[in-house]
Amino acid sequence: MLSTLDRYQRIAPFYDLLDLPFEYGRYRQIRPLLFDGMSGRILDAGVGTGRNIPFYPQGAEVVGIDQSPAMLARAARHARELGRTIELHAMDVTRLSLPDKSFDAAVASFLFCVLPNDLQVPALHEIARVLKPGGTLRLLEYVRPKGAIRAAIARLWEPWMKWAYGAGFDRKTEEHVIEAGLEITETRFVVDDLIKLISVRTDPIR
Ligand SMILES: C[S@@+](CC[C@H](N)C(=O)[O-])C[C@H]1O[C@@H](n2cnc3c(N)ncnc32)[C@H](O)[C@@H]1O
Repeated sequence: MLSTLDRYQRIAPFYDLLDLPFEYGRYRQIRPLLFDGMSGRILDAGVGTGRNIPFYPQGAEVVGIDQSPAMLARAARHARELGRTIELHAMDVTRLSLPDKSFDAAVASFLFCVLPNDLQVPALHEIARVLKPGGTLRLLEYVRPKGAIRAAIARLWEPWMKWAYGAGFDRKTEEHVIEAGLEITETRFVVDDLIKLISVRTDPIR
């Protein structure tokens, strides 16, 4: 079976094209919500091909990490085309080579629906470690819809999501946030009952 890294190395040249209908139909409208009120030094974990770049707050200093060099190469090209300067590093989110308390905020869009459940707490601990005390982490994540029809459609679509992206709708990200000792300050659906925006705060008195 392909590892997540191999999968993204393979899919990187086609990723933006494959995702185009979702990007323009769904994601563009909700990406700005990730950055609401954020400034300073921001970590974009699982930066992918850099789809969040147009929405980075002006003046922010952004560091993007991803385990796939092929996805990062696309992000670098995207940043150049948009005239934005960002620092990009090939890194696993569960083992960040970044100093403690060095970021004001962090975002991760559609990373945790790719990360297996057993890697979610280690990933959250690492992100919390590099955030300053009280820093905000925002996540955009797919969840399995509750309504019978939507759930049935999602079930049909899931094997493709798994094959192409290694993604699933079955991650228990909110439970893992609590397990990691972090505080959920807000959670709400931003696309039907399918995509959630989850805001997390690291302990303010570390
Ligand atoms: C579905 S894509 C989302 C990309 C981007 N955030 C977006 O919103 O379009 C998931 C990304 O997470 C990266 N990824 C998966 N597992 C990772 C890990 N353990 N550490 C770092 N990046 C990872 C993949 O390489 C891929 O680029």
